[in-house]
Amino acid sequence: MPRVLVVGGTGLAGRAVTAEAVARGPDVVVASRRVPDDDAPGYVTGAAYVTADLVSGAGLEEAVDGADVLIDASNGTGRRAAHVFATGAMNLVQTAARFGVQRSVLLSIAGIDDSRYPYYRAKLAQERVHLDSALDARIVRATQFHDFVTAIFERGRRFGALTAPSGTRFQPIAIADVARVLVDAAEGAGEANGIVTIGGPRVESARSLAQQWREASGTRRPVVPVRLGGALGAAWRAGRNLAPEHALDGTGYAAWLTAGD
Ligand SMILES: NC(=O)c1ccc[n+]([C@@H]2O[C@H](COP(=O)([O-])OP(=O)(O)OC[C@H]3O[C@@H](n4cnc5c(N)ncnc54)[C@H](OP(=O)(O)O)[C@@H]3O)[C@@H](O)[C@H]2O)c1
Repeated sequence: MPRVLVVGGTGLAGRAVTAEAVARGPDVVVASRRVPDDDAPGYVTGAAYVTADLVSGAGLEEAVDGADVLIDASNGTGRRAAHVFATGAMNLVQTAARFGVQRSVLLSIAGIDDSRYPYYRAKLAQERVHLDSALDARIVRATQFHDFVTAIFERGRRFGALTAPSGTRFQPIAIADVARVLVDAAEGAGEANGIVTIGGPRVESARSLAQQWREASGTRRPVVPVRLGGALGAAWRAGRNLAPEHALDGTGYAAWLTAGD
């Protein structure tokens, strides 16, 4: 197992990646702007934690020093997304190359090509930075996480409802399954400078998934269809978020709801 740096390893996906990497080998470093307490949820025993800021570059040299491969599971929201994904990625790959890191593995999103949605455009720019770098870059594009679609349904909580985007299907995937593919890529699986897409085991309507969450959570709130506007809503209604030909035989939504994993 190579020495692995997990950038954004305190985040939702990053924590699963860190746990998977630690299960396979002892040399795992996590970099993020804040280091969690060792009793915080999601803290992975066995990983070393360092502070680094992709955008300012502070702490990056210390973070990449000694790593063979980096896995980038960072994220940004709102206007900061473009900074984290473009400026941050550039700082990261350039610093990594200077310190002899050989490979980068980037977590990206299925179906982001040709989108007008600003977040997806920022992800494409981030991919491009990794692919154009001096590193052996491997991009793993995943469909929406189980946690993410659940969060969409829960946006209706303040209206006393579960909100399900109308005319939309998802192929949600467990972050543990995504983490396995990312760490496989870190170990050299797949092609150098390649893009792979992975999806959850099943394509289901947002409404059906919301009903499953309703039953599992025991809420009595009704499932209410909402029309999602903008470029994202249009892309999802067109099914651009789906990758049935790349379905993994992993944990489906119903099983994830039961296992909570
Ligand atoms: N949600 C989905 O369904 C889905 C599907 C496919 C792919 N993805 C991709 O998966 C990636 C991870 O998403 P997530 O939901 O797991 O993210 P998240 O929970 O928001 O975690 C983001 C991580 O990035 C770190 N971070 C943010 N800004 C940083 C900076 N300037 N410097 C260093 N670290 C920084 C955060 O730690 P600090 O805040 O402490 O710095 C945290 O560790 C994203 O790129 C997303 O596009 C998501």
